[in-house]
Amino acid sequence: MKEKSTDAKANAPAIFAPTGYVSREEHETLKAQRGACVWLTGLSSSGKTSIARALQRALHARGVHTYALDGDMLRGGLCKDLPFTQEGREENIRRAGEVAQLMVDAGLIVTAAFISPYREGRALIRERMPRGRFIECHVSCPLTVCEARDTKGLYARARAGELDHFTGISAPYEAPEAPDLKLETAPTGITPEECAMKIIALLEERGLLSKDTP
Ligand code: ADX
Repeated sequence: MKEKSTDAKANAPAIFAPTGYVSREEHETLKAQRGACVWLTGLSSSGKTSIARALQRALHARGVHTYALDGDMLRGGLCKDLPFTQEGREENIRRAGEVAQLMVDAGLIVTAAFISPYREGRALIRERMPRGRFIECHVSCPLTVCEARDTKGLYARARAGELDHFTGISAPYEAPEAPDLKLETAPTGITPEECAMKIIALLEERGLLSKDTP
C-alpha cells in the first residue's frame, strides 16, 4: 500500500493562474446554466455507464450543455499509459478529475463514470472543484450481481488469473461513506433512467439545474 499524501499544497488550486480569461461565471451566464460534475463511482458492471448515458441524454434533451467522461474512454487515450495498480488508478483519477474540473469551469454539466476505488482520490477531486459542484454518486451493486452480469467478460478473466488488480477480486473498492447520492442498482431493479431522474432531482434541489428547464 502506498503511503497517503498529506501535502495539502499539492492539491491546492494553481496560485499563478493567469487572469483575464473568460470566467466560469461568464461561461455560465452565456449558457444559462451552472457547471457541475456528477461523479459516478462503483464496481465494474455496477451500472455507472448506463446511468451516465441516461443522465446525459436526459440533460441534453432539456437543452443542457454536457460532456461525458468514462473510464473506458480515457483509458483508450489520455490515460493509456497507466496500469491498474493503486498508483496507476490514483493518477488515472487525478487526470480525470482535472479534466472534469476544466469542463465545470467551462460551465458544463459533466458526467464522470469511473470505478475510482479510493476514497482519498475522490476527496481530492471534490477539493479541487468549485464548492458544491462535485456530486458524488455511489452506484452500489453487490459484487455477486456485478460478477453475474460480467458485461465485458472481465470478472471471468480475473477469476481465471488472466487479469491482475481486478477491483472486487484482487484489488479493493472503498465505498463512499457519505455520498451525495446512493443508487442501489440491485436488487431494486431500478432502471438507469430512474437513477438519472434521481440525480436530476438532486441537481435541482442543490440549485445546480433550473427547474423550468424544458
Ligand atoms: S479506475 O479504477 O482507474 O477508476 P476506470 O474506471 O478508469 O478504473 O476503468 C475501469 C475499466 O477498465 C473497467 O470498466 C474495465 O472495462 C477495464 N479494466 C481493465 N482491467 C481492469 C482491472 N484490472 N480492474 C478494473 N477494471 C479493469
